[in-house]
Amino acid sequence: MIRLTREVRFSVDRDWAGRVEFTRPVTNSWGGWPSAVGIVPYLRLRATVAGEPDPTSGYLCNIAILDDLLRRHAIPFAAESLREHGWRMSAEHLLGHIWERLVPELPASAPLVELELCVTPCLRYGITREDPAMVQLTQQFEFSAAHRLHCPQLSDAENRKTFGKCNNPNGHGHNYLLEVTVAGEPDGRTGAVLALPRFEQLVKERVVDRLDHKHLNEDVPEFRDMNPSVENIARVVWGLLAEHVGPARLQRVRVWETAKTWAEYAGS
Ligand code: NI
Repeated sequence: MIRLTREVRFSVDRDWAGRVEFTRPVTNSWGGWPSAVGIVPYLRLRATVAGEPDPTSGYLCNIAILDDLLRRHAIPFAAESLREHGWRMSAEHLLGHIWERLVPELPASAPLVELELCVTPCLRYGITREDPAMVQLTQQFEFSAAHRLHCPQLSDAENRKTFGKCNNPNGHGHNYLLEVTVAGEPDGRTGAVLALPRFEQLVKERVVDRLDHKHLNEDVPEFRDMNPSVENIARVVWGLLAEHVGPARLQRVRVWETAKTWAEYAGS
C-alpha cells in the first residue's frame, strides 16, 4: 500500500468567487493559483490517496488528475462558501464539504484517505477516511528551555559516554517546536472542533508557561526524577493536556528538539 499526497496552493479573492476562468494560466508553484491580489486568504489543500501503483507507469494516481479535481471541486467552492457565509466560516465545515465533494470523484484504484487544509503555516485541519465525521485540528507552538541529560544511577563516565555533550553539567538549550493535534466532531453552533482561542490559551497555560525559559531538570517537577529527553517531553506534554481539551480528544503530541530530531506520543 502506497500513500501519495499532492498539495495545491491558492488564494481566495472575493472578486473572482464564482467567476473562475480556467482558461487563465494555471500553475501550482510556490505562489499557487489563483494568485493573491491584495491581502487575501492563502490556503493549502493536501489530498492523500492510497493503493497500489500501476506496474507499468509506476503511478498510483497522476497528480494532474488530483490537481484538476482539487481545483474544480475545492477552490471555487471555497471561494463561493466564503463569499456566501462570510470570512468567519469554520475551516472544519469547509473541509468537510470539500471532502464530500472529492470522495466520489477519485478513481477506485486510488481512493482519498486523507485531506488537509492548511490555513496558516502553523495551523491545519484534517479528515481521514477512518472517520470522516471527525476533524483533526493541529496547531504548532514554541518554547525555549534548557536541560541536562543525566542519570544519577550511572557513573559520570557512563553518563558522558551515553549522552555526550548533552551531559554538560550546566545544561544546554533548545528552541523546541511543539505540535498538538486534537480531534472531534465540529460543534453544531460554532462549527469548531475546539475553539482556537481556548485551545491556544490552554496550551499556553498548561504547557508553554510551565516549560518556556525554564531549566527543565531544575524548574519542572515532572522532570525532577525523569530525564528530560525529547521522548519524555512529548509524554509529559500529553499528560498535561489529555484531560483538558474536551469536548475534543487529544490525538497526538509531537515535539521537535531540533529540525533533525523529534518525538511524538499518541497516548499508548
Ligand atoms: Ni539537548
